[in-house]
Amino acid sequence: MRKAFIAGNWKMNMTAASGAALIKELAPLVADASCDVALCVPAILIPAMTEAAKGTNIKIGAENIHWAASGAYTGEISAEMLKEYGVEYAIIGHSERRQYFGETDETVNKRTLTALANGITPIVCVGELLEEREAGVTEKVLDKQLEIGLKDVEDVSKIVIAYEPVWAIGTGKTATDEQAQETIAYIRKKLGELFCPKCAEKVVIQYGGSMNAKNCKGLMAQPDIDGGLIGGASLKLDFATIVNYDK
Ligand code: PGA
Repeated sequence: MRKAFIAGNWKMNMTAASGAALIKELAPLVADASCDVALCVPAILIPAMTEAAKGTNIKIGAENIHWAASGAYTGEISAEMLKEYGVEYAIIGHSERRQYFGETDETVNKRTLTALANGITPIVCVGELLEEREAGVTEKVLDKQLEIGLKDVEDVSKIVIAYEPVWAIGTGKTATDEQAQETIAYIRKKLGELFCPKCAEKVVIQYGGSMNAKNCKGLMAQPDIDGGLIGGASLKLDFATIVNYDK
């Protein structure tokens, strides 16, 4: 049985002061959650947000992780730096990283393997562009992202996948419950082929892309959707409503 997992992705938003204030307000509202709860925050906010979330069930995650242990990689963050603050999750290969910062399936793979080797759960993002969906190549795109991105992974159950159709991110256009279910079921089938069907059944797969307080119940009711990666709605108290989708 997979445990549901709702994670926020603050992207390049919030400050130490506004972030801590939000966590303080969210904490009592999500205290009885039946799912796992995390907020992935900008690297510079990790120390302060870890402090703010102390004693709550909100875990703090990172928005990226570098593959090298240390070295000449200006602007990057290593696993060791994250572990020092008890970070348990790192988003990897978000479509904004792929679109604006040259992230490829190969670098996603390196980051994923490093996270796993350091006991940090990678939240590996996959998803198709609008043109790709319209051209009917969604499955092909996902195949490549999963084949290369998850190459040499030993235990796929230690990974979280976030299926985020790029056309649904920050656009207010959510995939319908059926579209999201159908594509996530496809991802699970593909994981079954790449690893083993039983292993694929253990993988938590989130939906992401304009998921909000209104549409979360319908999405979470789908059999293959185990959670959400929440952008805009994680910057406000709506995040608590999403976390409490089953109440
Ligand atoms: P959104 O972002 O919820 O604002 O669409 C989701 C994401 O990019 O993870």
